[in-house]
Amino acid sequence: MARADGRTSLFDRWSAAYDGAALQRVAYRPVHDAVLARVDDLEPETVVDLGCGTGQLSRRLLVRFPEATIVGVDVSDGMLARAADRLASSDADRYGLVRASAGWLPLTRSSVDLVVCTESFHWYPDQARALQDLADVLRSGGRLVVASIALVTDVGDRLVRSVTRAGGTPVRAMPSHRMRQLLARSGFDVIHQRRIPRLGPIGWPVLTDARRR
Ligand SMILES: C[S@@+](CC[C@H](N)C(=O)[O-])C[C@H]1O[C@@H](n2cnc3c(N)ncnc32)[C@H](O)[C@@H]1O
Repeated sequence: MARADGRTSLFDRWSAAYDGAALQRVAYRPVHDAVLARVDDLEPETVVDLGCGTGQLSRRLLVRFPEATIVGVDVSDGMLARAADRLASSDADRYGLVRASAGWLPLTRSSVDLVVCTESFHWYPDQARALQDLADVLRSGGRLVVASIALVTDVGDRLVRSVTRAGGTPVRAMPSHRMRQLLARSGFDVIHQRRIPRLGPIGWPVLTDARRR
């Protein structure tokens, strides 16, 4: 079940401006391009887009994997409403939208071939639990591709966490090596990790591709 908190309303408010063309082109499109390139050789039957937002990437996954079922999961009703509008012209049998929070996914164990998660992981209040939950729903050999903001050092991560916590919405942008450690502890082998270049003042996110053991 989704857990309502202060973040939900932040994302509900944000959803109104989220699809702005300039924001998408500069901030999110490069991330989606990188994730799609990374999964291009896969043939998944079931794909979860965790923290799917307004469904920009879910829509492209539906096109890229014409035989697959795509499940968009998000905690924000505002984001999900926009995702529903975006996907309405798609084959309704092939997608679903679920309101749930990372770590509490209402999905069957070992039922998913691929999880993608873009620009969302750094918002999760319990990232270890989120990864353990993903390890449960992914089948053995399934893939998890996360692209999210990542600080370079633990000190930077702690600083950003405490500053953003004071503002009411903590951001947990763990460095790449911490992400690798957490994935290893959660039953994943990391097979690829790199920064995704993009223009503008927002930092370059880190893409991490991991295989469920
Ligand atoms: C910056 S948006 C990214 C949306 C989309 N993945 C994209 O790349 O365009 C972050 C999204 O993560 C969602 N989110 C934040 N915390 C979440 C949680 N605990 N569980 C599920 N989704 C969450 C927000 O509602 C929001 O839609």
